[in-house]
Amino acid sequence: MGKKIFIFDTTLRDGEQVPGCQLNTVEKIYIARELESLGVDIIEAGFPISSPGDFRSVEEISKAVTGPTVCALTRAKKEDIDCAVTALKFAKKKRIHTGIGVSDIHIKYKFKSTRENILRQAIKAVKYAKKFIEDVEFYAEDAGRADDEFLAELVGKVIAAGATVVNIPDTTGYCLPDDFGRKIKYLFENVDNIDRSIISVHCHNDLGLATANTVSGIMEGARQVEATINGIGERAGNTSLEEVVMILKTHKKLGMTTGVDTKKIFSISQKVSNLMNMPVQKNKAIVGANAFAHSSGIHQDGIIKNRSNYEIIDPQDVGVDQSKILLTARSGRAALKYRLSKIGYRIGEDNIDFIYQEFLKVADNKKLIDDRELSILMKKLSHEN
Ligand code: KIV
Ligand code: ZN
Repeated sequence: MGKKIFIFDTTLRDGEQVPGCQLNTVEKIYIARELESLGVDIIEAGFPISSPGDFRSVEEISKAVTGPTVCALTRAKKEDIDCAVTALKFAKKKRIHTGIGVSDIHIKYKFKSTRENILRQAIKAVKYAKKFIEDVEFYAEDAGRADDEFLAELVGKVIAAGATVVNIPDTTGYCLPDDFGRKIKYLFENVDNIDRSIISVHCHNDLGLATANTVSGIMEGARQVEATINGIGERAGNTSLEEVVMILKTHKKLGMTTGVDTKKIFSISQKVSNLMNMPVQKNKAIVGANAFAHSSGIHQDGIIKNRSNYEIIDPQDVGVDQSKILLTARSGRAALKYRLSKIGYRIGEDNIDFIYQEFLKVADNKKLIDDRELSILMKKLSHEN
């Protein structure tokens, strides 16, 4: 079975902050239900105090989903927490996600404060939220750049104040995977009461390391991953949910599992992309249009002989029907024969060379040859002979 890693989806909060990605309440409820069916454990539904629309979305999602915990974001402020408590009123399982910046950069330039005051405010916010909701997650914003000793002191104190989950975000996507893993390890070695809470990791992708940092964090003991569908989120995005889930499924030796029904990954990726008007990069791992497409002759020949030559994931495991053999001027005879067979032409060894040379003449002037162009070519050749 393996150690269960909790999946905290923040597509509707960190993901939805992206300019142009805003959803209305009906659309958010739709995505929340899809996330429930995907099998995530926690849905971060929004930041209720930020706008009446976000408040309403959190309220409606709380009514609409019953499986996952519904979570609402707040700053470490009484009015934010009051607002979130009200928005979560109808949730069957609810969580407050409160927190504050903890790096010296944030403490000095954002809050013009001191470590002592930040500690006090953090503890006060957790204790206040705890009066209303049992499940309180604390985020130590910019933990990636925070001093480890101070971070450990803070984590210990918010756990003592009642935090059930402590989120260690690499808010600016600054950390290297080894350093981030070491930070989590340091916390496990230096916070006495750490076993009384779940440690969560929340990484941003500014250096393209969000997924690597997340994996490094869970290898050092974090049990919750914060991620978004398609990796959408502030700036270069958040950790991509589908990447983490498929890494854990592919590398069984890590001994970790999630509750995600991986066969639903591709479909939810498309829905989020369409509703948020955010195209998925073609070469995006797991869900990009080319993630299971093969175009060079050598790879195509290998795939046709046996899929495992060039694929480490069965496309059907993520809800993609089958791998694609694309026809370009870089394709070989095996791919051409394979694609011709799919449209009803069985080509023998004696004919393939001639057809292949004719195919290359067309392919050299085109980026991709589709089935229609292929059958036009075959008809032309049969007329000529
Ligand atoms: O990146 C971050 O630090 C956040 C927090 C609000 C959790 O999104
Ligand atoms: Zn974030």
